[in-house]
Amino acid sequence: MRSIFALLASFLLALPACAQEAKPSVLIAYFTWAENTIIEDEAASLASALAHYDNMGDSQSGVDATSSASLLMPGNTAMMASHIQRLTGGELFSIQVEQPYPSNYDECLDRAADELDDNARPALKTHVENMEDYDIVFLGMPNWWYSCPMAVLTFVEEYDFSGKTVIPFVAHGTGGISGSVRDMSALLPQDCTVLAPIGVYRPEIPTCGPAVEEWLKTLDLPFALNDSFEVTE
Ligand SMILES: Cc1cc2nc3c(=O)[nH]c(=O)nc-3n(C[C@H](O)[C@H](O)[C@H](O)COP(=O)(O)O)c2cc1C
Repeated sequence: MRSIFALLASFLLALPACAQEAKPSVLIAYFTWAENTIIEDEAASLASALAHYDNMGDSQSGVDATSSASLLMPGNTAMMASHIQRLTGGELFSIQVEQPYPSNYDECLDRAADELDDNARPALKTHVENMEDYDIVFLGMPNWWYSCPMAVLTFVEEYDFSGKTVIPFVAHGTGGISGSVRDMSALLPQDCTVLAPIGVYRPEIPTCGPAVEEWLKTLDLPFALNDSFEVTE
């Protein structure tokens, strides 16, 4: 008789634990130029980026122009990723190509244009060991030529996203998100859910924490967010 009571008691004690939903596993994968280039002459590389923005009529003066030039660490998409990491507690993963891109802006533009024309899939040197463990994958990319870096497509094709939720985020210039999310999403399977992306304009990257938080709140994620930017900043 005592053993039946013990069994009943352990069953009742286990009930609250069963009733609680486990927090989904979150991966925050991102591609950023700064982690996909090797800078030999920092001043010359920065000058090439800032000259390009000038030509585009998209220059900002002072510190922000330099810090949002996207060439120096942390890159713009990486900064967005670190805010998402802080708020969700997910794992960060940097998508990196085997052959780094030039750190000269125009040369990088040329290679990216060639890869887009060729519908290339640049080989990656970083890989997620346990993609099957993740339920939610935030996927970050810069707008490159009104699309995304082709390495992001290599990444998407490398794994099985069936049943997962993918949440895109984009760092961009004056072109906005353009076709980046559309082109990436086209390669995902039918049963993958893609949530509404956020795009952040290059000069707004250094102060985008609160905007990232507001966006995350609109997604109705199945877990609570960590400490708020409103409280701490
Ligand atoms: C090769 C290349 C192509 C780009 N093409 C575009 C574009 O078509 N439209 C746009 O708005 N920004 C474009 N940009 C600007 C980037 O999207 C922007 O600087 C972004 O913040 C960079 O993010 P990252 O630092 O994570 O690489 C391009 C940048 C590079 C390097």
